[in-house]
Amino acid sequence: MTIPTPTSNGVIPDEATLGRLASELFRALPGAALPSFDGLPTSLAAGVAPAPELSLAQLGPSVSPVPVAPDPVNPVGSGGSELGVPEAYAAALPAVAPPHAPGGFTDHSPVSVPASPYYFLGEARPYTQAPSSKVQENRVVAQSFNLPGQEELLALLAGLGDDRKADSFASRPQQAGNFYFLDARLPELAPGARPPFDVNAIRRDFPILNERVNGKPLVWFDNAATTQKPQAVIDRLAHFYAHENSNIHRAAHELAARATDAYEAARNKVQRFLGAGSADEILFVRGATEAINLVAKTWGVQNIGEGDEIIVSLLEHHANIVPWQQLAAQSGAKIKVIPVDDSGQLLLDEYQKLLTPKVRLVSVTQVSNALGTVTPIKKVIDMAHAAGAKVLVDGAQSVSHLRVNVQELDADFFAFSGHKVFGPTGIGVVYGKKELLEQMPPWQGGGNMIADVTFERTLFQPPPNKFEAGTGNIADAIGLGAALDYVNRIGLESIARYEHDLLAYATRGLSSITGVRLIGTAADKASVASFVLAGYSTEEVGRALNEEGIAVRSGHHCAQPILRRFGVQATVRPSLAFYNTCEEIDRMLAVIRRLARGKGKVAG
Ligand code: ALA
Repeated sequence: MTIPTPTSNGVIPDEATLGRLASELFRALPGAALPSFDGLPTSLAAGVAPAPELSLAQLGPSVSPVPVAPDPVNPVGSGGSELGVPEAYAAALPAVAPPHAPGGFTDHSPVSVPASPYYFLGEARPYTQAPSSKVQENRVVAQSFNLPGQEELLALLAGLGDDRKADSFASRPQQAGNFYFLDARLPELAPGARPPFDVNAIRRDFPILNERVNGKPLVWFDNAATTQKPQAVIDRLAHFYAHENSNIHRAAHELAARATDAYEAARNKVQRFLGAGSADEILFVRGATEAINLVAKTWGVQNIGEGDEIIVSLLEHHANIVPWQQLAAQSGAKIKVIPVDDSGQLLLDEYQKLLTPKVRLVSVTQVSNALGTVTPIKKVIDMAHAAGAKVLVDGAQSVSHLRVNVQELDADFFAFSGHKVFGPTGIGVVYGKKELLEQMPPWQGGGNMIADVTFERTLFQPPPNKFEAGTGNIADAIGLGAALDYVNRIGLESIARYEHDLLAYATRGLSSITGVRLIGTAADKASVASFVLAGYSTEEVGRALNEEGIAVRSGHHCAQPILRRFGVQATVRPSLAFYNTCEEIDRMLAVIRRLARGKGKVAG
């Protein structure tokens, strides 16, 4: 061990002080003032900066619904984008001599400083933008919605007894095994009461929302493509790899037990989130696309044959078209399509006409990714069942916006992706009714899904294991569980109300701009405001928005048939989430207005 050097005034910094200084050093931005330690050795002081201010995630009162607690084990959680681009850290690193080289002799040559301590970024596109300045002001405004905000929050906190306040996340002792995302306890509210919906507090839970793009604060309006992740999810993933990482074979050893428990706990969370009757009805897959493919290639192959019919709707994402086409090509089945009206809503009368006795399956989205239409899914299911068909609901775009209960819907299958509901990518879910899953053949063969194997035959595990061959995406399943905890804490009803108002605001603003044509105007919509702007390609609009830091998807959104129904090949698609604000919508509208004025060749 290296003995600390006495300083000029004879003070030897103790280990705790050295530890604190080291932490500050690695967290500091270059050019910041130095930390104060009386008698700090000058060699250590060079380039040392003071502790940065608390990140936004830690500022202010620990507000409901989800305060962010510092994670003592996982410093990743407390840094984030607030600290600037990774290269900034490297620049702040002093050149230090290692104490002893392997082999017992001291090497006095300075250690070369790596270009970036974020070595793993080298595999990706290098950062090209300037270091972001710290966003000090709270520029988010939840306006015009009479949403409960800071005042209500403070009133709520004032109403808590001192002992309750002391149990807030920020002040809760953070020892191993007591992580806020593990126990998921919240400050208690009156029974049945929802925490207030405070968009400012919610935004502090999403570190990426502090990013700057082209010098402007990021506006994330590409939520239909993927959602951003709250700190609780990021921390949960890091915690898994730091404390639980193992394959899931519970009995083998301690970490295997931890990993298995966490993975199965995530399955239980999905079960509750979907209102499924049993966790055995929840299969983990890569995402909604894989979920639909699994059903097509198991239940579909088993139950759909020559002359049978499969109904989809014109709204479907390619992922809910192509697997059925493949099955139809293989089996000789026929695909029929429910048309939509001019607003983008399903025509139920036409659907009824398609429901012949030959229909085996109806596979329909609950929310259209391209238009935002919320389909009358309960009615679709009831009509299918009356005709003797099974129903798969594509919930990829619905679960982050609407409360789903698969038992109340009586859905036979339900598919969704974790990354669209604030969880990680690469994890998704198939819900299937138990009796269907039990009858279905396995999809892939391999480890985990077998009960016994000889060279003559294999006996399979019951569901869900029968459908989870090989080592699955354990960490991200657990991360998905944390995401669902997060969503539950806010409450889907609160989310739906807030997003409804946001969408109404965006729709009103866009409709007021000459040259804007909204694509998809159904009365029941969720969070998508697709449009085209006369005189501009969708790429041009997307680029102009990106220049202002606003991320939208422009293109066909993997839903070409529905766009063609409206005579377009592509749209600009702002898609909203509960962390978006009216102020962000105003920024988008300002760009569209400027474009609309600019070319002067817009249609009326
Ligand atoms: N399905 C995703 C979208 O709509 C990728 O953008």
